[in-house]
Amino acid sequence: MDDAFKIQQVNALQVLDSRGRPTLKVIVKTKSGAGYGYAPSGASRGEREAIELRDGGKKWLGYGVMRAITIVETMIKPRLVGLDSRYQAFIDSVLIALDGTPNKSKLGGNTTTATSIAVARSAAGTASLELFEYLGGPGARLLPTPLLNVINGGVHAGNELNIQEFMIIPVGADTFYDAMRMAVEVYGILKKILKEKYGLSAVNVGDEGGFAPPIKQTRQALDLLIESIQKAGYTVGTDFYLGIDAAASQFYSNEEEVYHLDGKSYSPGDLVEYYAGLVDEYPIRYIEDPFHEDAFNDYAELTRKIGKKVLIVGDDLYTTNTRYLEKGLEIKATNAVLVKINQIGTLTETIEFIRYAVSHGMRAIISHRSGDTEDPFIADLAVAMTTGLIKTGAPARGERTAKYNRLLEIESILQGSSQYAGVRPFKIG
Ligand code: PGA
Ligand code: ZN
Repeated sequence: MDDAFKIQQVNALQVLDSRGRPTLKVIVKTKSGAGYGYAPSGASRGEREAIELRDGGKKWLGYGVMRAITIVETMIKPRLVGLDSRYQAFIDSVLIALDGTPNKSKLGGNTTTATSIAVARSAAGTASLELFEYLGGPGARLLPTPLLNVINGGVHAGNELNIQEFMIIPVGADTFYDAMRMAVEVYGILKKILKEKYGLSAVNVGDEGGFAPPIKQTRQALDLLIESIQKAGYTVGTDFYLGIDAAASQFYSNEEEVYHLDGKSYSPGDLVEYYAGLVDEYPIRYIEDPFHEDAFNDYAELTRKIGKKVLIVGDDLYTTNTRYLEKGLEIKATNAVLVKINQIGTLTETIEFIRYAVSHGMRAIISHRSGDTEDPFIADLAVAMTTGLIKTGAPARGERTAKYNRLLEIESILQGSSQYAGVRPFKIG
């Protein structure tokens, strides 16, 4: 074995995420390199996600991660020191075995996520390779089309919009750089329109950097996006598509078995019609979590109805877990999956999930969390996995722009040999 890649040190410390809550940063050192990794954190978490280990108690309002840090130092470090940092799959299998639970509840999904990312980065650093090159090889040159969440609702914002995310998708750009320019222009014009229509407080931003205006209706938000795109001089439906993440578990009532949306109650069947109507009216090509997280059959119904034209995306439905994806594939529940490393807890399981989805004809969207950090890891992962799609918030707030800025950097590193995914990932019919 090449000694340079041997892991010599594994350390962890408590830092803060974008919501001002503790999270952990893990640093892995090899003989001649080092790498770090952070754990992000969701707010609209799926029931089947890996468990986040938190300390509880009064300090840090219970969100402290000192237990996770002790686990890194006392349980994980002794097992990793001496291993070759390039053996990602083996190292992740060590973490999985050490945990021994189906949902990482012993070590914590946050603990394993930060460690797994740090291992990959330390190996890339030791090899003097860019992270996307190390993970993706020489074919990694496709810059993803970004889904920019510019109006925030649901549990990410202090307003009354039920739908959690309203996204603009710059499919008509030729380069990632141009995609960002177009998105930034629309974002700026949206801000102006919101200020004029609803006053200064309407431009306060939510967790993912999108505006959180005091509006209540889904169609109001969509109309604002259309107006902003047009005022910026772009054509809706060719330069930009629209997308939504309903995160519908958040407005589903278990007792009543209905969805409370836009001040009305919808049965699952009504909601299928509702989405189909929206897609007829607006250039929506992306709908994430349209039903609650156990409603596999309702997803399948919607996919049958509009899945030739629209990406129907499972986030809380699958929680980056191949086991639930298998179930979704059996009944063709969706034609796309959302990918969040900390939902499953290791890079290897994440890559397996992406490969499984893509090899079965699905699209995979690499995603941030609403509580995130300055770690741009998912930018490199999206390029490495050639998924062609990334979801990482508005073009604002440092933890969001960290990812966009890294993608701009990757495009510049690739100097003309890169491609921009553009409209291609949306050709599914
Ligand atoms: P979360 O939301 O990170 O708060 O879970 C993001 C999403 O639902 O896609
Ligand atoms: Zn989601």
